[in-house]
Amino acid sequence: MNRKYRKTVIAGNWKMNKTPSETKEFMTQLKSIMPKGRWCDVALCVPAVCIPAAVRAMRETRVGIGAENCNANASGAYTGEIATNMLVDAGCKYVIIGHSERRAMGETDADVNAKVLAALEAGLTPIMCCGESLEQRESGITEEWIAMQIKLGLAGVSEEKIRKVIIAYEPIWAIGTGRTATPEQAEEVCEGIRAVVRKLYSSKNARAISILYGGSMNEKNAYELLAQPDIDGGLIGGASLVPEKFVQIIEAANQPTV
Ligand code: PGA
Repeated sequence: MNRKYRKTVIAGNWKMNKTPSETKEFMTQLKSIMPKGRWCDVALCVPAVCIPAAVRAMRETRVGIGAENCNANASGAYTGEIATNMLVDAGCKYVIIGHSERRAMGETDADVNAKVLAALEAGLTPIMCCGESLEQRESGITEEWIAMQIKLGLAGVSEEKIRKVIIAYEPIWAIGTGRTATPEQAEEVCEGIRAVVRKLYSSKNARAISILYGGSMNEKNAYELLAQPDIDGGLIGGASLVPEKFVQIIEAANQPTV
């Protein structure tokens, strides 16, 4: 983290978990134990049907609600899809884009890019995900692969808008596996992502952008991961489903930085 130059963001990704009733219950518990200080931004990205309950429950709090996906088109014949203006109107502030679980369902870098542009246009903060498979890591192409995902995902994002984008580095082999990247491994890639942003934009923009780590981040390993200079927060799956664990991760973001 480097709070001098950029925001620290702790974001939950509920994936396909919890009903609207369970959402209400979770938010009530979370509110009662939420740390008082304002040292980091907190987001919870929830299933679409849970958004109204989450927004209602967290209206007067510092927790921003987000979606887990969006469609890049403004409206039209896209059965089952949700447009960015609908998310804004429902009270969302964030949207996760290009999660590896969605990429595995066929989402391409071009889709990710179109969604990032649509989200920015609507005023949402996109949390754009990237990450390599175990096979890619073992063949030594992590750096190139991530650079490619970042370049393609950010194509056409203007100098003015880049600071609104949050990037999440999530190695696929670490997601939901309990096998977290070491702080050094995660830092190396996050530092590389910042270097790519520096080349595409400027040092100032690269310094200002928040880069999160995701993949089995939990209340035990969060402190060490967040202590890395280029890891500005976390995208948390499993541990964001339990209020106590999520709060402990938020607390880990309250550590001294250089
Ligand atoms: P995990 O998921 O924390 O359960 O590994 C992270 C993510 O997929 O965003």
